[in-house]
Amino acid sequence: MTKTVLVTGGTGTLGKLVTPLLREAGVNIRVMSRTAREARDGIEYVAGDLETGEGVAAAVAGVDTVLHLAGTTKGDGDKARTLVQAIETAGVFPHLVFISVVGAERVPVESAIDRQTMAYMASKRDAELVVENSGLPWTILRATQFHDLLFTMVSALGKLPLVPVFNFQFQPIETGEVAARLVELTLGEPAGYVEEIGGPKIYTMKELERSYLEALGKKRPVFTMKAPGKASRIYAQGANLTPDHAVGERTWEEFLAAKLATA
Ligand SMILES: NC(=O)c1ccc[n+]([C@@H]2O[C@H](COP(=O)([O-])OP(=O)(O)OC[C@H]3O[C@@H](n4cnc5c(N)ncnc54)[C@H](OP(=O)(O)O)[C@@H]3O)[C@@H](O)[C@H]2O)c1
Repeated sequence: MTKTVLVTGGTGTLGKLVTPLLREAGVNIRVMSRTAREARDGIEYVAGDLETGEGVAAAVAGVDTVLHLAGTTKGDGDKARTLVQAIETAGVFPHLVFISVVGAERVPVESAIDRQTMAYMASKRDAELVVENSGLPWTILRATQFHDLLFTMVSALGKLPLVPVFNFQFQPIETGEVAARLVELTLGEPAGYVEEIGGPKIYTMKELERSYLEALGKKRPVFTMKAPGKASRIYAQGANLTPDHAVGERTWEEFLAAKLATA
């Protein structure tokens, strides 16, 4: 029988690249979104909100696999709890596949400062533990920052007359690489924590910002600040990087050139 895969976050940057690949694989695709939509391109849309829990039990009914991509900058642990609870309520036993971030288990978020600067890492780690302890068969992939996210970051900062950046490094990965790996994992057997993935090169945040400004011919001073707190210090030491698991050919420079050519 054809498998049914529920994709939470199927309307997001990553999710939009995942769904065509799942369609090519011939599975039934259901996407959960906070906004109701008509079925399109062979995808069924179900309204569900992982903050309120509304609609989630109906979204998971009858599914074989849940690819959980929905996420925001904080509270992903609670979203994962809501999802797992709804799965229990619906009486299904799907393979739960989750996208996390490289370094989630390596960045300790302990102080009030850490909770301000690194809330995202704490939230992803919380969600990982919910998935791990869900009692369901599960798979977790940790990825580094996507090109698209870093572009949003450098372009927002690049509007400032003086551009502050943190002493962080990033290993940008093409979002499509992450989508392709997630589809393999979704179609495969539950595998627990799989090898994490990151992009082909590592850059300082300053290098990413400068390359963006230079490509636009903008002359702005870019200065590096040390981020406060222990969690930031560990992040700045490279906890978010995975040089031994670099994948893909497309570099930040290539992504940036293509992105700006179509902007
Ligand atoms: N971006 C990166 O660099 C990066 C790196 C590693 C891991 N990740 C993880 O990858 C995942 C996808 O990232 P992305 O960049 O594609 O995110 P995105 O473009 O911001 O999309 C977020 C998705 O989450 C859904 N969502 C948000 N809140 C929800 C809620 N309360 N209930 C149900 N759905 C909700 C949104 O759906 P609607 O708006 O349609 O409701 C949307 O589809 C996230 O979990 C993120 O943490 C991202």
